[in-house]
Amino acid sequence: MRKINVLIICQSIHHGNTMKVAKVIAGQLNADIKKPSEVKPADINKYDVIGFGSGIYNGKHHISQFKLVENLEVQKNKKAFIFSTASICYKKMHEPLRQELISKRFDIIDEFICKGFINYSFIKYFFGGLNKKRPNEKDLSKAKDFALKIKDSF
Ligand SMILES: Cc1cc2nc3c(=O)[nH]c(=O)nc-3n(C[C@H](O)[C@H](O)[C@H](O)COP(=O)(O)O)c2cc1C
Repeated sequence: MRKINVLIICQSIHHGNTMKVAKVIAGQLNADIKKPSEVKPADINKYDVIGFGSGIYNGKHHISQFKLVENLEVQKNKKAFIFSTASICYKKMHEPLRQELISKRFDIIDEFICKGFINYSFIKYFFGGLNKKRPNEKDLSKAKDFALKIKDSF
């Protein structure tokens, strides 16, 4: 069977929460991990599947993901998956990035979201933050299952 090349593009700036998820998924898929700023549009051509992930900031993925996708060509037969961590797990927050990716003709195969620790702004005054120690082992085990499901779809 031909080797499937997977690239995970992850921006994880608040506490590295999403990077923990990215590393688990990458481990299962033998994927490279890069930040959006490290990806040149032509790099995408070297991969069969691209994962796009970040924390959720003000209801959507990090701006750097949008800037990157904006600069990409329209794709042909390129599969993608979307993942995130957030203070509230609500997949609707994937919709803006999902729509951007669809506009570039990516075929979205699956999506994953789990809770991530937040102590930004006034939230730090509530018990020192919300979702302490998330993503936890259970979240990361779900991320592993998500990756295995993607692997099965190859
Ligand atoms: C400036 C800022 C805005 C955020 N906005 C949201 C939001 O709109 N919805 C949500 O569920 N979580 C929100 N969060 C929580 C983050 O999505 C969560 O902490 C995430 O795990 C951060 O991931 P990271 O450590 O990979 O950057 C926000 C966090 C920050 C710092």
